[in-house]
Amino acid sequence: MKHFIIIAVLVIASTLAIHTGLGSIGLLPRLASAQGVSIDQLFGIYTWAIAFVFSLIIVPLFYSFVVFRRKKGETGDGVYMEGSSKLEIAWTLLPLIAVLYLAYLGAQSLSETRRVDPSAMVVKVIAEQWNWQFQYPDYLFASKSLYLPVGQQVDLQMTSLDVTHSFFVPEFRLKQDILPGRTVDLRVTPTLIGHYTVECAQLCGKNHTTMVADVYVVTNADFQAWAKQQVANAPKDPVLIGEQLASLYGCSVCHSTDGSKKVGPTWLHLYQSSVALSDGTRVTADAKYLNNSITDPNSQIVSGFSPNVMPATFAQALTLTQIQDLIAYIESLK
Ligand code: CUA
Repeated sequence: MKHFIIIAVLVIASTLAIHTGLGSIGLLPRLASAQGVSIDQLFGIYTWAIAFVFSLIIVPLFYSFVVFRRKKGETGDGVYMEGSSKLEIAWTLLPLIAVLYLAYLGAQSLSETRRVDPSAMVVKVIAEQWNWQFQYPDYLFASKSLYLPVGQQVDLQMTSLDVTHSFFVPEFRLKQDILPGRTVDLRVTPTLIGHYTVECAQLCGKNHTTMVADVYVVTNADFQAWAKQQVANAPKDPVLIGEQLASLYGCSVCHSTDGSKKVGPTWLHLYQSSVALSDGTRVTADAKYLNNSITDPNSQIVSGFSPNVMPATFAQALTLTQIQDLIAYIESLK
């Protein structure tokens, strides 16, 4: 009995020490979203559980090393012990109850982070190798940085143009995978004005580590001013809109505008030129051909280039007007 009391005291002391140690090294960045509150509470409970279970294993182990060492001259075997039903029932039931309780807390926290505010502002998030684009449908513009008014829930409607990406802002605590061909929702209510970074948290190819974007949480007045400025700055000329789209959607990553060869054919002097296709035929690069190349890129492959390289998702990602703007931009490069 004496040993049990000593071990119990040591386990409690060790749990407190480990919990204090873990708390002092700053495991989490500052919290900046309403949804993160219940997640941090869960994290707190887990930290206590980790400290306790670790102590429960380590303390009796080292206590036994020291106190129950074989004394000098002891050569016999240890005492043989038959199993104990009471002990086995206890160490089956207690962890079962603990795990069920944690599952209950997890489900509760999950439903809390998904709570819908009907007045949430919609932002469409387009992920592609290897950049982020944020579209504000209420204001009809797109941005490379995510601006959010503090205290208002935002409904991030996210989709990918190519492979699986993952939206993660550590200060918001939430992380959501983004799948091609599907739209997934993530709801965030920012609570702290500041500058954060959205990091892609799913290995998505060569430049995965550079797939980051700025997140600015600002006052509602600052947000309105920024949105107004974005609208005012947005070009009205289709050629300029097309140029912006080419950058936003990453077209310019693979198509040069100076005649140099990249992954895809250059756009310089392309419009109305005669293009040799890989099936041996020639076609004039008119608006119809360009439209087809954007919306169904594998149907006409230019001689010397590989099929199935360009994503076939732009027909869904771009509106008809946006496709016309892109064509206008390509036309201006003839
Ligand atoms: Cu996108 Cu990693």
